[in-house]
Order: sequence, then structure tokens, then C-alpha cells
Amino acid sequence: MRAKIVAGNWKMNKNLADTGVLLSELKEKLNTSTEAQVIVAPTFTNLYYAFEELKGSNIGVAAQNMHQAESGAFTGEISVDMLSSIGVKTVILGHSERRAYFGETDELLAEKVTTALKHGMTIIFCFGEELEERKSDNHFNVVESQLKNALFKLDSEAWKQIVLAYEPVWAIGTGETASPEQAQEMHAFIRKTIAEAYTTEIAEEVSILYGGSVKPNNAKEIFAKPDVDGGLIGGASLDAESFSAIATSF
Ligand code: G3P
Repeated sequence: MRAKIVAGNWKMNKNLADTGVLLSELKEKLNTSTEAQVIVAPTFTNLYYAFEELKGSNIGVAAQNMHQAESGAFTGEISVDMLSSIGVKTVILGHSERRAYFGETDELLAEKVTTALKHGMTIIFCFGEELEERKSDNHFNVVESQLKNALFKLDSEAWKQIVLAYEPVWAIGTGETASPEQAQEMHAFIRKTIAEAYTTEIAEEVSILYGGSVKPNNAKEIFAKPDVDGGLIGGASLDAESFSAIATSF
């Protein structure tokens, strides 16, 4: 049975004090086990603090990114070994904001995925189409291409460390959530694409999260879809009440 996961991508938000407040509130609200695995992804400066604060809780931590190199002259970057050394074993890769603002290509992401897998990381791999690509009915081709270019050279075993996050760019931060039917249609397509490239068994085991304006008032209907295994949450993850409500929407 594939995992249900609700992950909060805090993006570039919350200083150390604010992180502590939110973590305390989340520990209180999510103090009983939930059907979903709950993960939060604070910024790098607060990651170790969050890892320590969440020890013994039902909440895991993830990094929002990492560099593809093991180490070296990459000013300002963070390596996978640095993440592992503070206990972080999950990393978000391929977020549309990194693709758009920092020029991350499918090929670069394939390198990051390889490095992360080599170090035993679980990867939450993000992808999704732009509004124009959906309007021109090219969204399935775009998603298939993103998956194939970055992930389809992996061996079958590696897929045990992959969580997919379909995030239509036009739904991120806009309040324009994909309908549950749109999410289900694309998730089913993603699962079929993986089954054709690998096996049905692998495809059925991969958790596919939906991201893009998930809120407490739409999470339950989206998560109820057969090929939606949870969500990658942005804005709503910065509020303990909202994120807790989403995390328990199964
Ligand atoms: O990574 C999740 C994020 O991109 C979704 O953002 O604010 O639309 O939930 P938001």
C-alpha cells in the first residue's frame, strides 16, 4: 500500500523564532498519529532546529533543495552530505520556482536525483505544466517529458525512494486550484506513464502528491481521488490550523 503524504513547503518564510512558534503549534495539533505521513520543509537555516524540535513527534522534515555536487566551490549551496549530517533524509527537487527563477532544467535535476539517491535520500520530485501549455492541450506531453528526462533512467529499485508531486504551475500560489477531476486525470496519466516505462507494480507503489492552492476547504475532495496520495502544500502550510486540517483530510 503506497504512502499517503502531506508535506508543507515553507519556501522562503519564517525566521528562527517564527519557526519555533509554528513547530510548537503543529506538534500540539498533530499530536496523534494521522493516516498521512506529515512532513515540513523549513528553510536551510532552520532545518537542524526543526529536526531537533520534531524528534519524537509524528512530523518529519525535508529540505527544499540541494546541490548536485558532493562538495566544492559552489558558494551559497548546500550538499546532500550536509543534509544527511543533520538527520534530514528527504529533499524536494524540481520545484517550479527553482526551474523558473534558478534555471533548473530536467537534465540538471536528473543529476540532483542521482546524487540524492546515492545518499539514500527520499526525493519529493516536483513537475507540472504552465497555463499556456494546458490551454494548448499540451499538458500531458509536458508532464511526460519532465518525468522521462529526469527520472526514467532510474533503475526499478530507485523508485522506492521517489515521491512525485504534480504541481500545475498555474495553480501555485494563485488560489486557482486544479479541480479534483483535473488532478485525478493527470495523476492517472502519470501512473500509466510509469507503468508503461517500468511495471504496473512500480507505478502502483509510487505516491503521487498534488500541489497548487490546496486549502482546508478543498483538500478532502482532492485527496479522495484514487490516484491522489496527498499534497505538497505551500501557503497553507505556514498556518498551523490550516496545515493540520489539510494533513487530516483523509
Ligand atoms: O510546493 C508547494 C507549493 O508550490 C504550492 O503552493 O501556496 O499554492 O499551496 P500553494
